[in-house]
Order: sequence, then structure tokens, then C-alpha cells
Amino acid sequence: MAGPTLLPGRVTWSLSRDAGSPPLAGQHESAIAASTGAVLYGNGAIGAARARPWRRTSVQAQTSAGAAEPSLGSRTPGRVTALQITTVGRSWAEGRGLTGPKALPLRRLRVRQSTLDGTAARRLRLDRRSMMTVFDVTDLSALEILDSRGRPTLAVTVRLGDGSTATARVPSGASTGSREAVERRDGDPARYEGKGVLGAAEAVNTEIAGLLHARSWASLAEADQAIIELDGTANKSRLGANATVGVSMALARALADSAGLPLWRWLAPDGVTPSLPVPHFNVLNGGVHAPNSLDFQEFMIAPVGAPSMAEAVRAGAEIYAALRRELTSRKLSTGLGDEGGFAPEITQPEQVLGLLVQAISDAGYKTGTDGVSIALDPAASEFRQPDGRYKVASELLSSAEMTDRYAAITGQFPVHLIEDGLGEDDDDGWIALTARLGGATELVGDDIFCTNPAIISQAIARGIGNSSLIKLNQIGTVTETLQAMAVCRQAGYRQFVSHRSGETEDTFIADLATGTGCGHLKSGAPARGERVAKYNRLLEIAAAQPDLVYGMP
Ligand code: PGA
Ligand code: ZN
Repeated sequence: MAGPTLLPGRVTWSLSRDAGSPPLAGQHESAIAASTGAVLYGNGAIGAARARPWRRTSVQAQTSAGAAEPSLGSRTPGRVTALQITTVGRSWAEGRGLTGPKALPLRRLRVRQSTLDGTAARRLRLDRRSMMTVFDVTDLSALEILDSRGRPTLAVTVRLGDGSTATARVPSGASTGSREAVERRDGDPARYEGKGVLGAAEAVNTEIAGLLHARSWASLAEADQAIIELDGTANKSRLGANATVGVSMALARALADSAGLPLWRWLAPDGVTPSLPVPHFNVLNGGVHAPNSLDFQEFMIAPVGAPSMAEAVRAGAEIYAALRRELTSRKLSTGLGDEGGFAPEITQPEQVLGLLVQAISDAGYKTGTDGVSIALDPAASEFRQPDGRYKVASELLSSAEMTDRYAAITGQFPVHLIEDGLGEDDDDGWIALTARLGGATELVGDDIFCTNPAIISQAIARGIGNSSLIKLNQIGTVTETLQAMAVCRQAGYRQFVSHRSGETEDTFIADLATGTGCGHLKSGAPARGERVAKYNRLLEIAAAQPDLVYGMP
């Protein structure tokens, strides 16, 4: 079949197969799944429906027995060699596919999506729920692997009844909030200094696998909820949040694959427009992520004003290189911290900010939100003292003095975002900080919110921060992560999707940030494989979907 024709207001999908090749089922292309109303029979022949709401859908099948325009319930003889589906008007969202005794699961009808033009893609947004019919889990297993710090973590692999298979790898934090969901570690000093995760792997392989095998599931949310109930604790400490999040992420990925959708599109909540997030590159590390004596943990550069994802990544890498030159010329170390940023012996945050401004302009970029801006994650819980004061470069500051310090910093430097500027227990300080700086500066809660929808709701009511960090393993399931983001969206709080300091090559967060249209993502430096994997994934998404808008909301 020749390539499809794109007409205004019309979407054409096509899929071509060589005569004699196996039936269409199991094709791996991005799919519109069952939404066309077409049914693929076991022998590869096509039946198609144009019943409501598909009355304006036409299906042309080319089979080994000749051309056909199948109608509702028909069976077109012969092996399918090509298929073209044209839909005008109606939204896919109403789609319910046909089923029949010989029909394969409709989600296995895979149709190449590359022929969909941008306008039509927006109009014909797929409603993943209409496609996410019942699924079964046939295999689930976990393996102990290593993270980027050389510590054990989990890789979880799931296989669904329709054959869709996916693996997820679990991140791990160092500057963790006290209300985070709890990672399960073995505590056996004879292995990995007690950090082994064989117990968590066992929980996946036995209890969680047993639960998921036992019945069919209507949605990821339903499976996640059952796992939460199986765990039975408030913080997932029995099974381990590393176990639950690994299973949940693997399931999400398998379900996206099953629906034939890229993960970001499958994750997109209803009513939300996906977009490409501004990468926040952590180019200079301190705190518990580096052996230097810098108290602030992260100094990020954010190409907010870049015209595209490709140019943003380029700016990040060029500024990183310029910063390395700048450090070398000042005889400062270019050794790296856990997130790939440099970790020189500098103690004053303002001195680092001066260096970043220099590096941005050395690399030929403009500073500020129409060029490259700066974000900070002091991770202040880590340097808050038992008496409630904050120790910055040996100086002890009250909460109010810390806020003064941030006011001075945002006055002097192009800083648009401060995460965890104050400690996780300093609610009053947070309220004062938000009242003072929240109008112009994004104030992100990480340790204080822990991606927990209930905690975030309370914080919103009290005027704490105006944005939440979003880390899947802080809460332990994809469903709750999406709920946390929904709570923020409804309250006008931003969401800042984040990696952990211990990472793997898993790129789930790039898709999460894109699908939820949250506008920004932090994944460390534009260097080190586990960090750039996320940025590279964003480059791939941007290239595959040129109509996705780049930028902060
Ligand atoms: P963590 O640090 O992954 O070590 O918790 C990241 C952060 O504080 O944002
Ligand atoms: Zn943080």
C-alpha cells in the first residue's frame, strides 16, 4: 500500500505487511489500538466496524485474496498484507473495540502512528482508559542490580497476558525525607554493607507476584491499590517501597506497550496537554552528594528560554564544559559528586552562583528566564541543626535569616527556583518564606512533601511552598505519584519531576514529566550515563513528536 494521504481534518493510519509474513497481531508499532473499531482475527484476516461512534471510520484492508472494505462483524478471507484506517471527526476517547469469539485482544491491533499529523494528534487524543481493558499478569520477577553509587537496587520485569513485557529499574535517594515511603534493605552486614535488596526482590517474586497472578486487573490504579493493601503499612515498609515502585513502573510500561503508546502518552492524565520539560542540569554538587564542604546540595542551570529540547540539552552541555574550564582556571577540583556535577572546595553558595553566571556567559548564553536561569536545591534538612538553626559555611542562621539570605540571592542572581530552602519540620519558616518570595520564585517542597498527596494537600492549605518535587520512589506507586501531581495541578502548584541521587539507566521520569506537561525535570548533570539517559530520552521524544511544546508552564 502506498503511503497514507493526510487531508485536512482527517487522519490516516496505515500499516503494511509483506505477503506471507505472520498475522498482524504482535506488531510492535505505536498503536491506535482498538479505537478504530477494527477487529483482527486469528488468521490475520480483518473484520471492521463502523458502528457508533465509528461511523465515520473507514477501513481498507488489502489481503492475499484482494482488496476489501470489511464491514461490521465480517471476516475478510486471506492473509492481511496491508491495512488503512481513516477516521474523520470523532474523538477516539469514546472508543470501545469490538470483541468476538475469534477476535484477538483489540489492543494488539498495532498501527503505525508516524502518519498522524500534529493537529489531528491533538484532536484525536487517545483515552488510554478506554483501551486499558482487563489485563492479566503472567510473569513478575525482580533482580538485585546496582545503582549509580554501586549500591544494590531492583530491576523488576513484568509480562502481561497479551505478551507485553517491560522492565523498570528503581532509583534510591541519599538525602531522604523522613516521611518518605521506606526502601527495604536486607541489613545483612555480610553483603553490600547491609544494603542488599534480596528481601525486596523476594517480596516481588513471591507475595506481589502471587497477588497479581491471582486475578485479572482493570487498571494500574487497581493493581497499585491492591499492592498497597497487601503491604498493609502506612509507608510501604513491609514489602518495601523499592519493591512496590518497581512493580508499578514496570506495569505502567507494559500497559503502555500493550496499548501501543509511548509511555509519556499513556501516562498523560485526561485534560492535560503533554509538553517537553525544561531540563534542570545539576552542574555543581554539595551536601550529602559530594565530599566537599559546600552545604547547599544542588546548583542547577535551566535553559528556560531555549527554543527547543535539542537546544536546551546543547546549552546544558556547553555550560557544563565552560564551568569545567572556569574551575580549572581557578585551580579548583573538577571531580564529580553523585549527580555528575562538579564538587569543588567552595563553601559560600554565592561564590558558586557567581561561577555559574560566568559559565553561562562564557558559553555564549544569556542569563535569566529568557535564556539560562539558575535553580537551587539547598536540601536544608541536611544542615538544619538540632536547635532549629541552619549551618551555612560554618555560620548559624535562624529560619528568618535563611529567608533573608534567599531574598538576597534571588535579588542578586538569576535564580527562579529554590527547592527545600528550609527544613522538613520548619513549617512556620516555610510559610514565611512562601509569603515573602513565593510570588516571584518557585519554592519546591521535596523532603517536606515526599510526593505524598495527603501531605501536599495539607501543605497547600497552609500556604507552604508553591511547587512539589515529584519522585516516584518517595511514595512508592505510579498511581499515587500521578495523584500527587493532580493535587498540585488543581491547587495551581507546579510539579518538578526528579531523579534520585542513586539512579539507573531507567528513563521513566522523562516520560512522566512529558506526559504530565509539568514543565520541568531534574536529572543531574549533562554527563554520566544514568543522568544523560533521561535527557537523551527527552531528545528522542522531541524528535519523534515535533508538535510537543517545550518549556515551563
Ligand atoms: P536524593 O536527593 O535523591 O539523595 O534524595 C535529591 C534531592 O534532594 O532532590
Ligand atoms: Zn531535593
